[in-house]
Amino acid sequence: MFRILVLHGPNLNLLGTREKSIYGMQTLHEVDMAIGQLARREGVHVEARQSNHEGELVTWIQETHGQFHALVINPAAYTHTSIAIRDAIVAVGLPTVEVHLSNIHRREPFRKRSLIAPVALGQISGFAATSYLLGLQAIIDYLRRKQADAKHDITT
Ligand code: DQA
Repeated sequence: MFRILVLHGPNLNLLGTREKSIYGMQTLHEVDMAIGQLARREGVHVEARQSNHEGELVTWIQETHGQFHALVINPAAYTHTSIAIRDAIVAVGLPTVEVHLSNIHRREPFRKRSLIAPVALGQISGFAATSYLLGLQAIIDYLRRKQADAKHDITT
């Protein structure tokens, strides 16, 4: 069974009360419930964690080695600043999808730059909690495709 880690960065624990016009009304718990529902439907194992600390996120990414097949991450403000999170993703070679609740490309200029996007498979931005579900679906499809390709290589 595929094991996927979902990471929420700083301030996302405040979802539901924080800048609702930008980030929506859903709490982090509700977002995690929706993620869990999709995981059950797709038959994958998902673990979701949130941290306000860059180092903790880095440690969790490092610890995925041998534990998780892929990562869905909303690095929140660290998207725009964290070489450490980017380096951790590259170091463990984990297939990663970057997600954002808001469309970071139509907000302040400093949000347009992501240090994570160049090392991710892709970025989904602007669909509120649905961004996480689209990101999760995308990584599941990617893992299944990779597995099918590997089987094909063995049998041919
Ligand atoms: C965010 C966008 C970031 O720019 C911001 O710092 C966040 C949330 C989003 O999900 O839209 O905290 O990652």
